[in-house]
Amino acid sequence: MDTSQFISKPLDNLVENTRFTWQTPSNIALVKYWGKSNPQIPKNASISFTLKNCHTITTIDFQKKEKTDRVVFDLLFEGEKKEEFKPKIADFFLRIQEYCPYILEYNMRINSENSFPHSSGIASSASGLSAIAMCLMSLEKQLNTNLSDAFVIKKASFLARLGSGSASRSIEGPLVVWGNHPLIKGSSDLFGVQFPFKLHSVFENYQDTILLVDKGEKQVSSTIGHNLMHNHPFAENRFKQANENLSKITTILQEGDQKAFVNLVESEALTLHAMMLTSNPYFILMKPNTLEIINKIWAYREANNSAICFTLDAGANVHVLYPESEKLAVVAFIEKELSLFCQNNQFINDHVGLGALKH
Ligand code: PMV
Repeated sequence: MDTSQFISKPLDNLVENTRFTWQTPSNIALVKYWGKSNPQIPKNASISFTLKNCHTITTIDFQKKEKTDRVVFDLLFEGEKKEEFKPKIADFFLRIQEYCPYILEYNMRINSENSFPHSSGIASSASGLSAIAMCLMSLEKQLNTNLSDAFVIKKASFLARLGSGSASRSIEGPLVVWGNHPLIKGSSDLFGVQFPFKLHSVFENYQDTILLVDKGEKQVSSTIGHNLMHNHPFAENRFKQANENLSKITTILQEGDQKAFVNLVESEALTLHAMMLTSNPYFILMKPNTLEIINKIWAYREANNSAICFTLDAGANVHVLYPESEKLAVVAFIEKELSLFCQNNQFINDHVGLGALKH
């Protein structure tokens, strides 16, 4: 795989001080990525809706310094120093410094905040790392004005991927594919690309209400989870199935086949969890309330001839997906019936968004 295009040329005229602020969203996968090889190469292609309301806003202040062989940075989260978040970010910088050598010549002060409650069980790595990647690319563009906007987006996704795989899908929207797939022209294991076909109108502005079932720390970190796919007895079939599902959803999204969408998306969520149920060590990441909610969603769909469905991340929270045309009715149903199964009745209404936004 040719990564040389992402190595920044030596830059002179480094500016003394500069600062950039980016807002980047979380995303929710419809076909899931679970399993990777080094360095952050996915075992199958995945596709996600980019979200809008669940996002991170990050400012990086860059201050020129003597070149060192290690990246120097400070990290503030919601205005306060967060030493415990630093190792993950330090690791990320280590992985990207060959592509962005200029970061060795700056002190960086990173200040991040999330729109969603901390420890809500909503993964913040996708939005957090994509926001840092966009700030770095703004600096690179300022230092090298020849870079095209398309390249800036592509390299930001490439960098974000090296921090957290799913972060590669948080730069653009409304739908992003990451991972090489024969039906998606230009797709790559190295960065995300926009879904290249016209989306049927029923899937425009799709809604996602995130039900906060369990706000605790993740029981299985993604690193451990991905590693469980090595030597997993069903792994190869799963990777094949995911790529086939990506082919199927490519047609479904264009034709507006809501029944097929519901079936594929729910099957993907349950398969992700099945992989963890059948790995060794094994994990049950759903909670009793996750199952209560799933059963309620199925009953509502049946009774109301609705296109509502659910998907899950690697945790107990439930993402409820539904078309904009059903918004009023579904939100009423969520408030009345599903919120009872959420911690402190908490849920977040979100919908599909268009990706990174400069402040
Ligand atoms: O990006 P990571 O390494 O945190 O993995 C995320 C994997 C899932 O969220 C479970 C699925 C996906 O494709 O987003």
